[in-house]
Amino acid sequence: RYYSNMSKPSVYITREVNKEALDLLNTQCDVTFWTGPGPVPRSELLKNIENKHALFCMLTDRIDSAILDRAGNNLKIIATMSVGYDHLDVPEIKKRNIKIAYTPGVLTDATAELAVALLLATSRRLLEANEEARTGGWQAWSPFWMCGPGLKGSTVGIAGFGRIGQEIAKRLKPFNPERIIYYNRSERKKEAEEIGAERVNFDDLLTQSDFISVSLSLTPETKEMFNEAAFSKMKTNAVFVNTSRGGVVDQQALIKALQQKKIWGAGLDVMTPEPLPLDNPLFKLKNCVILPHIGSAAVETRKEMGLICAKNIVAAFKGDPLLTELKT
Ligand code: DGY
Repeated sequence: RYYSNMSKPSVYITREVNKEALDLLNTQCDVTFWTGPGPVPRSELLKNIENKHALFCMLTDRIDSAILDRAGNNLKIIATMSVGYDHLDVPEIKKRNIKIAYTPGVLTDATAELAVALLLATSRRLLEANEEARTGGWQAWSPFWMCGPGLKGSTVGIAGFGRIGQEIAKRLKPFNPERIIYYNRSERKKEAEEIGAERVNFDDLLTQSDFISVSLSLTPETKEMFNEAAFSKMKTNAVFVNTSRGGVVDQQALIKALQQKKIWGAGLDVMTPEPLPLDNPLFKLKNCVILPHIGSAAVETRKEMGLICAKNIVAAFKGDPLLTELKT
């Protein structure tokens, strides 16, 4: 136990989180948190992290050596309320023997659900159609007006066949695509067989898919993997959906592909930067649906994510194994 002979360990939370998480932490620790609005400013984080034993952070907080230096030797655990951890300087954190907890699993269903919703909203032009209906563009039912590609008989490509990618594939299967193909670093044979998906290389994913749904984590290897060359290999009817991280896409190349109709459309829940500035060309494109990073935004999911962070912090203070430790 780290703290048995000490006063309560201290936790800094970079947002006001749910009551369940706060209540649990309050029973065991001294809790302070940023009350907003918005993400904690870096200057506040630097000030508040000093001497804390735990940090409970969000994907909007960049945790690097400057923050860790300021925290000092007390810091034993960082719990991020996300499954993605590209905002954490993992090697620096590990070097200092600080544990990392994250929230895999609990958000898989919510994120897969959103990916499917976004795919359909993009292909069947839901936002554009709604806009037409409310602004007088709907003059009469017309045979080919507001049409888009259907899933039935199509080839669905999943880039990143981890937990979320697999759940997206499972949810798309009842729409009767002809094939579900996936690109993934490791084979995932058993899971693929269960779903009826075939593993392909990246080029085949690009050239064969009618729909591409991205659920890759952002790493140096996946950074801007969807670049100009990749978009130029896609079908002109391809619908591209990204619910992972904006950084896996070369956004300029995507904008060009959409403007020049090299691909049919894109649905983005993530982009670079976030929030996307209002003057970004993506907002001007009718063939692009933009959501403000809401993949996991189901009420129960977010509560669970908060609670898992709290439980991990309590476990670390007790000297127990973490529930969801990031082991890299
Ligand atoms: C994550 O957890 O990394 C998602 O992007 C937000 O829930």
